Amino acid sequence: MNQEETVERTPQRVLRGEKIAQFLCVSCHADNQNRLTGKRMTDVPKAFGKIYSSNITQHPTTGIGAWSDSDLLRFLRTGRRPNGSLAPAMPRFPLMADEDLRSIVAWLRSDAFPVQASEQPAPRSRYSLPVKLIAKKMFRPLPMPQKVILVPDSTDSVAFGRYVADGMVGCFNCHSAGLTRLNPLEPSRSKGYYGGGTRLIGENGKPVYSSNLTPDRETGIGRAYTRETFVRAVRWGVGHDGKPLRYPMMPHVTLTEREAGAIYDYLQTLTPARVKIPKG
Ligand code: HEC
Ligand code: HEC
Repeated sequence: MNQEETVERTPQRVLRGEKIAQFLCVSCHADNQNRLTGKRMTDVPKAFGKIYSSNITQHPTTGIGAWSDSDLLRFLRTGRRPNGSLAPAMPRFPLMADEDLRSIVAWLRSDAFPVQASEQPAPRSRYSLPVKLIAKKMFRPLPMPQKVILVPDSTDSVAFGRYVADGMVGCFNCHSAGLTRLNPLEPSRSKGYYGGGTRLIGENGKPVYSSNLTPDRETGIGRAYTRETFVRAVRWGVGHDGKPLRYPMMPHVTLTEREAGAIYDYLQTLTPARVKIPKG
């Protein structure tokens, strides 16, 4: 994937890319008509400045129509734009399978409505001075993977679930002990991996703490969830008690039952961590 490449836009890739983009890109980039023209990131604390996601439609000047497929693949892996600038507010996908990443690119290039060229420019992000200073030191582009990354065989539910959770969706980013102690290249070395407790910004700016997803019987999913209710929680955003889970936990409706179930199988293999989560 390091060489220049053009991603062949097969119908399978476009479908798969759309499915992944639904839970990975749309929530941050879609305007209220579901076009990916970018918008203000209201979840970002005010002290960071005014951050806007970009127009990533096919428009050649306001969107990414002029980027090559390799430009996009490199940006999604490393966080570095073709002009060398970095995008600290944009997640990166260093462990996603090559084929899944290509599928996202194929979808971005397809004739799907959300990505059709729109000339509406996204306002430029204005990072506050402290964030600029910290970002210069802290935010480094990630390296390009040196090996081919494959989707594990789905008959090995644990390995497959680990890939879906860590490589494809990145559940650990929210469900570990904090946003500043994450290890994007080796998720399991993140502080409090899947023990939860990260303070996130919910609706109306109120804090919401991420749940403990380890199998602990008092504080983790071992206390209340079966494989079935877990799958329902992940796909439909409904808790074990039937109540809706709060934003920023989102439904992942395009994940299949097999994928969500495999995440459960993987989480069952983790050491139970006793982490009491504040109510928020
Ligand atoms: C958490 C919110 C968030 C998610 C999720 C997200 N993005 Fe972004 N993205 C941003 C922000 C914010 C920027 C602009 C960063 C900056 O420069 O301030 C951005 C910038 C970009 C750019 C650079 C565009 C340019 O013209 O510079 C591309 C390409 C992009 N995103 C693609 C994607 C794709 C594809 C996905 C899904 C795989 C995705 N993004 C998911 C927030 C997000
Ligand atoms: C953007 C951050 C974020 C991401 C990404 C995320 N979650 Fe969550 N999740 C949360 C928060 C916050 C809560 C708590 C919601 C509440 O208290 O109502 C939560 C709750 C849950 C619950 C309910 C647990 C309980 O104790 O009732 C499950 C299950 C869950 N998440 C699984 C997942 C899985 C699996 C993924 C990846 C496919 C994922 N989450 C991705 C933030 C996130």
